[in-house]
Amino acid sequence: MLSRNPRRRNKINAILTTIFIIFALYFFFFADSKSARVSVPKKDDLRQHSSHPVAQASPSQRPPQSQQTIHKAMVMASVKSDNTSWLFELFPDWHKSIYMVDDMSAKLTVPRNKGRESMAYLTYIIDNYDNLPDLILFIHPQRYQWHNDDPYYDGVPMLSNFQVPYLEEQGYVNLRCAWTLGCPSEIHPFSDTHREDVHAGEYFKNGFMELFPGVEVPDSVGVSCCAQFGVTRTKIRERPRSDYQRFRKWLLETPLPDDLSGRIMEYSWHMIFGKGPVHCPTAQECYCKVFGLCDLSCPGQGACAGRYILPPYSSLPQGWPYIGWKGQQQDPSFGLPEV
Ligand SMILES: *[C@@H]1O[C@H](CO)[C@@H](O)[C@H](O)[C@H]1NC(C)=O
Repeated sequence: MLSRNPRRRNKINAILTTIFIIFALYFFFFADSKSARVSVPKKDDLRQHSSHPVAQASPSQRPPQSQQTIHKAMVMASVKSDNTSWLFELFPDWHKSIYMVDDMSAKLTVPRNKGRESMAYLTYIIDNYDNLPDLILFIHPQRYQWHNDDPYYDGVPMLSNFQVPYLEEQGYVNLRCAWTLGCPSEIHPFSDTHREDVHAGEYFKNGFMELFPGVEVPDSVGVSCCAQFGVTRTKIRERPRSDYQRFRKWLLETPLPDDLSGRIMEYSWHMIFGKGPVHCPTAQECYCKVFGLCDLSCPGQGACAGRYILPPYSSLPQGWPYIGWKGQQQDPSFGLPEV
């Protein structure tokens, strides 16, 4: 309604100007505080030294949250003496969370150094449950270690060959294809007794009942060893955070020594992430799907030629891969290591 009264018009103009200024100030501060909030680093350091790669996940797989989500991450349990610089040099596009289990003052550490790598893995999941990356590899920090499914036990080909789309499709994949240690059946919870040297045996049965209350204890458990695997956020979140808290509480409270509690967790991850008690794809299928190595010759179900030989000792010789088992020089770019 227009007024012909000039005094009244001035008054309306003044009111409109005031409203405009208030809105302008409001938007100015609102926008400013919003951008400030986004740039504040998270307490758990999830975002640090992440060089956000070009996202490979389709937009539909993205969570409907305004915070930017990390696409792919590596999580590991480390001790102060581990040299993890190879991961930063060679895998810059993966975010890394390295838990120092023997340094309680480290930025990322565990409530107690117990249960081997599983304490770090569970702590990561619990602390980041609401803002997990799209996919995570839980791995060991050393480049050369016998757990790695590679002729020279080298983590570099293992990680560079890793097929991210297959993990996205599966939700969980084990990072080891050779069956030696773990497959086709490693633990018989009802019949293994007093075999704590290699198997978790009877301890597994009790551990399983405490970890998974109400779930029937399986007759046989098998998965290729060593607790290195990939899992997606979607798969992790099929369980509530309280499940992971229960697993960690069990680990913190169990009187079992670390090798046993760690092994019980090692042989439980695949079941935690939705696979059956025996999860042993043939080595041929596994190498092809998990690592894109599809031209291998695989005489048995659990091994392919030229891939993996269980080493004679669990610690590799000083100077490996250039120094072999017998102290001789060897060249990893030429042929397989002599055992
Ligand atoms: C750690 O490994 C890198 C190679 O990735 C090497 O250059 C560096 O000297 C090593 N650091 C230590 C302290 O051994």
